[in-house]
Order: sequence, then C-alpha cells, then structure tokens
Amino acid sequence: MALANVARAFGSAAQHYDSRAALQQQVGDWLLAALPVAATQVLDIGCGTGHCLARVNAERRWGLDLSAAMLAQTAGKVPDAMLIQADAEQLPFAEGSLDLVVSNLAMQWCPNLQKALNEVARVLSLGGQATITLPLAGSLQELANAWGQGQGHLLTMPDEAAVKLAMPLGARLDVKEFVVHFADLKALRQSLKGVGAHHVPERAKGLTGKTQYHNFVAAMEAQRVALGLPLTYRVGLISWQNAFL
Ligand SMILES: C[S@@+](CC[C@H](N)C(=O)[O-])C[C@H]1O[C@@H](n2cnc3c(N)ncnc32)[C@H](O)[C@@H]1O
Repeated sequence: MALANVARAFGSAAQHYDSRAALQQQVGDWLLAALPVAATQVLDIGCGTGHCLARVNAERRWGLDLSAAMLAQTAGKVPDAMLIQADAEQLPFAEGSLDLVVSNLAMQWCPNLQKALNEVARVLSLGGQATITLPLAGSLQELANAWGQGQGHLLTMPDEAAVKLAMPLGARLDVKEFVVHFADLKALRQSLKGVGAHHVPERAKGLTGKTQYHNFVAAMEAQRVALGLPLTYRVGLISWQNAFL
C-alpha cells in the first residue's frame, strides 16, 4: 500500500483506534517488559495513539508516525512528547542520537523492512537499544482455515527467515503467539484493519459469492470459543544493543 494511503487509512481510524487495539496493547506489554528501566532519549516509530510511548520512562520522548491524526491522539495522551510526521524508512534524526528506539506492530507497513531497520541502527547511540515487534507469517490461521485453499496469499506477512535476513548483525528474534477474541465478525474485521490485513469479506457478491461468504461465516463461527471468535497472531520481537562487534 502506498504511504499516503497508509496515512489516510490510519487517519480515519485514529479516533476509535484504542478501543479496537487489543492485540496492539497485549503485544505492547510484551515490548515494554523487554525495555531498560529508563532511557535518556526514546523514539517510538509508528507510535499510533501513543499507547507505548506513554509508558516508556525517558527524559525525552519522541513519537513518529505517518499519520497526523494518530499523532494528534498521542499529543493528548503524552503531552510532553515531541511529535514528528515522517516515514520509518527516513528517520529525521542524526546518527547515534537516541539511546532507545521502539516500534510496536508498525514496521509490517514498511515496503522495505531492511531499510527501516538500518535506519534504526543508524540513529542508535553506542550502547543504545532497539526493540521492535511485528506480525509474522503463520498468523491468522483461523481465517486461512475459513477461506479454505487458495486464499493464503491474502494473509501475506513476512516470514521468520525474511525478517532474520533484514535484521542488523547481532540482533535476535523472539517469537510469541497471541490470541485475541472478538464478539463478532465486524469487530474482528475492524481489528484486522489496524494490523494491516484487511481482506476479510464484508458481504456476498453475486451468487457464487453468496455461497462462499456463507461458508466463510459458518467456518468462522465453527471456531468460536467461550471468549468469542479467536484470531491467533505469531509476533516477532526484534531486539539488539548497539555495540562495537
Ligand atoms: C497498527 S498501528 C500501531 C500503533 C502503535 N504502535 C500501537 O502499538 O498501538 C501502526 C502505526 O504505524 C504507522 N505507520 C505505518 N507505516 C508507517 C511508516 N512507514 N512510517 C511511520 N509510521 C508508519 C501508522 O500510521 C499507524 O499509526
């Protein structure tokens, strides 16, 4: 998706984002638990509404996002934050200027993950730490099951091998599964939009479409558990410390 379209999509979602971001909040907790107790200068890339940034302990907090509407939400939540509308692949920071860089479920939107990670490495000071989460291939198995054969391409997310290739030398990748539950397909669809997989059929189109849609809904409902309709995500946490190797 073109950058302008990503910014527009998140712009229109900004106001209701927090109520639909259960996954982002759970994964954000994982990311926050991996951070140092305090930092001097922290940058949150793709900060969204500021959920993570608000909880990082640092003398100076920077939030960066493509979407001005998302940054406006962060401004309300983290009044002391310095906010920048920019692209993760071109960070407007000097080399070695930050001792902590975080990014929660945002880099899956970057057309060139390696370029985005290289930018993080460039702006990290010596001894600085980077902690970045993103969804991985193998996520959303429930949707793949419900669609049946041949629709797997709609769920493309980077696989572990590709992420490892894009990572700077010395970085590690931890992987964890998260299951989120939804009352209905509408809530599930809204949550997916925030993550970047928005190919859940919304209605039947034509006669064949009607049968397919009916089968899809039935197959999703067949997977319902007490907490609701489950969606399982495989999430990667990339981390490294900038040191002389
Ligand atoms: C799924 S939201 C996650 C927001 C936040 N990190 C959280 O945990 O709730 C992804 C965010 O990344 C931003 N984003 C997407 N592509 C970006 C890019 N290339 N550069 C900067 N921000 C980007 C979107 O505007 C959106 O606010």
